[in-house]
Order: sequence, then C-alpha cells, then structure tokens
Amino acid sequence: ITRLGLVSALREEQSGLIEAMQDTQTVTRGMRDYVTGKLWGIDTVCVLSRIGKVAAAATVATLIERFNVSHIVFTGVAGAVESDVQVGDIVVADSLAQYDMDATPLFPRYEVPLLGQSHFGSDKHLTDRLTEAANQFLSGDLENAIPSQDRDTFRLASPRVFRGLIASGDEFIDSQARQLALKEAFPSLLAVEMEGAAVAQVCFEFGVPFSVIRTISDGANEASAHDFMQFIDSVASRYAFGIVKRMCGM
Ligand code: ADE
Repeated sequence: ITRLGLVSALREEQSGLIEAMQDTQTVTRGMRDYVTGKLWGIDTVCVLSRIGKVAAAATVATLIERFNVSHIVFTGVAGAVESDVQVGDIVVADSLAQYDMDATPLFPRYEVPLLGQSHFGSDKHLTDRLTEAANQFLSGDLENAIPSQDRDTFRLASPRVFRGLIASGDEFIDSQARQLALKEAFPSLLAVEMEGAAVAQVCFEFGVPFSVIRTISDGANEASAHDFMQFIDSVASRYAFGIVKRMCGM
C-alpha cells in the first residue's frame, strides 16, 4: 500500500484513527475533511463520507482523483441478514451489489447499466489482509479493546469473521419483511449497509483495489434503529481502530 484511503460514513465509525495519525494536514473539499498523514507508518488519507451511496461515491472519487490513493478501505457497521451472523461479528466483503438498482426493463434487475454487472469483487489481496487483521483483533485484542460491560450488553461472547456478499442501498433496513425480500433476491447475502457497493463501483471504474469491512451493529429488523444507535455510540470505533491497527501490522 503506497497510499491508503480510509473511509467511514460516520465519525463514530472512525474516531481514534485520526488521533493516531502523525504529521496530519486537513484539506476540505466538497464539504468533507480529508486528513492526510502517517498511520502506523502507512501514508493515509482519512475521511468521513456521510451516509448513502452518492455520498460514498463522491468521497471515493475525490480520494482517487485528488488524493491519489493507491488502495481504499471502507470500515463501518452493517445490519445482518443471515441468522448465523450476529451483532459483534465482522463481515468482510468478497463482493458487493446495489440492491436498489433497477433499470428494468432496459437492463436486468440489479445490473449497473452499461457496466454489464451487478456484483463488484473486492481486491483479493487487501481483503485477505483485512480478514487476517479482523481475526487477530477478535482473538487477541477484543477483551482489552471493549470494556466487559459493553461486551455483556452486546453479548460479544466469541464474535466471528465472515466473508461474502454485502448489499448496499439508500435505505436503512428495519423490518423482517424487507430483510426477507433482500434475502430472496440475494440468497448468499450476509449483511446490508448504505455505502459499500457504491465504493465498489467507483473503485472498479478507476481500477483501484478496495476492500469493505463491516461490524454487525443490528439484525436489520424492527430493533435495528435502537441497536444501531447503541452500537455506534459505544463500540463501533473500537472495532475499526483495532482492525485497522492490525492491518497496519501493529
Ligand atoms: N447499517 C447498519 N445497520 C444497517 C441497516 N439495518 N440497514 C442499512 N444500513 C445499516
């Protein structure tokens, strides 16, 4: 990695990392602060995209075109749509799709028009590295990183790392019925969020290797708004910090 672009949607998903950077400089562009510097020895640009596919796409295009990042990592939280996947588990995306893309009857449902594909694969090497970092974090750092009270609250007994399909759309999924519909459309789907597949499309178009790693904050059901708020308030940034630190080899 010659220059890493590190993106999260919300401050709560990235706090700690900017403080860990050295020689920082902040450049404001398109209503976002891009913080450049060294993160555990790696030349890095940290930025918050805000929520949604357009916000993520604009942020990533700027990282690539103006900040010349060589790799992009998106960290944050997601809702689980697979019963095996629990709050506190980590999902690393092998590929991503936009579940709200629908240009039928002009193009097949979910296919991004004129790109001829619905699924965008993450960079294998970077994704392997993040999967390894996530496993190291869960097995070695979790107990120190998360206070026992929070581990009890979220029942973080022995969280696991999953790898597979993440789907994105401009919608917060908070009902069992919506979740079921998404699972029917994408049978192998592990988690849903609101940015990853937009990052994936832009990185595909620019030929920039990327990876998306998400901690499960909720079950994409009727309780998800409450669970999401509680999770990002207390533990989301600790996961992101711990995983990225391991990814940097620390
Ligand atoms: N991010 C975290 N939880 C989510 C949910 N339930 N729906 C969409 N994005 C999310």
